[in-house]
Amino acid sequence: MDERKNFGSKLGVVMAAAGSAVGLGNVWRFPTEVGNNGGAAFILIYLLCVALVGLPVMLGEFVIGRHTHANTISAYQQLAPGKWWRIQGVNGVFVAFMILSYYIVIAGWTLYYLVQALAFRLSGPQDYTQVFSQFVSSPWQPLLCAVVFMLMTHLVIARGVQSGIERFSKVMMPMLLLIICVLMVCSFSMPGTSESLTFLLKPDFSKVTPTVVLSAMGQAFFSLSLAMGCLCTYASYFGPDTNLVKTALNVSVIDTIVAVLSGFIIFPAVFSVDGVEADVGPGLVFITLPNVFEMAFHNVPVIGYVFTVLFYMLLLLAALTSSISLHESVTAYLLERFHLPRGRASGLVSVSCMTLGVLCTLSFGVLSGYTLFGLTFFDLFDFLASKVLLPLGGIVISLFVGYYLDRRIVRNEITNNGSLTFRLFGLYIFLTRYVVPVAIAAIFVNELFL
Ligand code: PFF
Repeated sequence: MDERKNFGSKLGVVMAAAGSAVGLGNVWRFPTEVGNNGGAAFILIYLLCVALVGLPVMLGEFVIGRHTHANTISAYQQLAPGKWWRIQGVNGVFVAFMILSYYIVIAGWTLYYLVQALAFRLSGPQDYTQVFSQFVSSPWQPLLCAVVFMLMTHLVIARGVQSGIERFSKVMMPMLLLIICVLMVCSFSMPGTSESLTFLLKPDFSKVTPTVVLSAMGQAFFSLSLAMGCLCTYASYFGPDTNLVKTALNVSVIDTIVAVLSGFIIFPAVFSVDGVEADVGPGLVFITLPNVFEMAFHNVPVIGYVFTVLFYMLLLLAALTSSISLHESVTAYLLERFHLPRGRASGLVSVSCMTLGVLCTLSFGVLSGYTLFGLTFFDLFDFLASKVLLPLGGIVISLFVGYYLDRRIVRNEITNNGSLTFRLFGLYIFLTRYVVPVAIAAIFVNELFL
């Protein structure tokens, strides 16, 4: 079995954890939510949710992971032997496994769109709705893309914590941030810029309803990769001198900046083209945007080409750094529980996730008629993972840290055994005990029953 390694540098810690957080949720889901929930007011509420709900849960996961230096399942077993709390460890790893099985499907689509963009097939006027539906319903193309994407994830994980995850994140995250800057410059040269800035910066609070608040909270939760064992697993590779509060702050800030900037990239393009409505879900990035890019740049096709290629590259990189963390959450468990070599443990995860991934991929084609409770495999996985198990996990983590865990453990981890000061400790405990569980319970009830 591999010797357990830590991340080798502070930069590696932040880049790996930010890589997990920054994903399709930022570039694809966040702009869609902003579009559906009224713009600037949603963004403000989102920021509050990140600060009051997201950050405390992230810090809680860091405390659990770093204190135990173990995979998520063993971490809860160590901290709460023989108690029901242990179920959260299993829940975290199980949800990561489920999410990975369908995350690779969408990630595979981004790979396909990147290849199409590179091959000049995403330019010129064409029916992009048909392009998309023909692709996703094809029996083999999306499958092949998902397999290739899974292979890419596997190769990074198999190389280990330092030479795989850390090295890869330290290269990919700066690249991703660079692409965002280039796309922003292109986007700000479009005619729809001022209209989109008003939409994104001038809050109209009359649009705020309880549903908007709950959507912002759900989005913050997904975007920060909480409750899936990923951040807990990564924190188990943090060294004794890692400042947990600073790391959580850095990760949340990077994640939020990428999400907001993605809005600034997408909306000027959307507002530049009359009559195009931002679609919900996959339609936004795979149908609306190719249409918008084509119309917005038809006078300057070279810029259109570069913009489109960079945009899908951004999506692919974002998806990859997130899928790596999901994969590691499960691999770390197999590796430590069954004393397997890393290559074999990660191979097992890749193959079994891919097997479930086949069902999810074909849900858009030959298996679209096979449903359970009216949901296709893809929708069922998404529903169970992100609407049921994830919020439940969030509640359990905050209660675990707020009520069960010895207060000295929490304080020692947060202050690195007293060598750092953290004046907001009382506020932190208050948030984890009262604010976070109530807030997440509200999302849960809203998503499931209202
Ligand atoms: N946070 C990622 C995103 O915004 O796309 C998605 C994700 C990754 C969720 C890893 C959960 C996770 F454990």
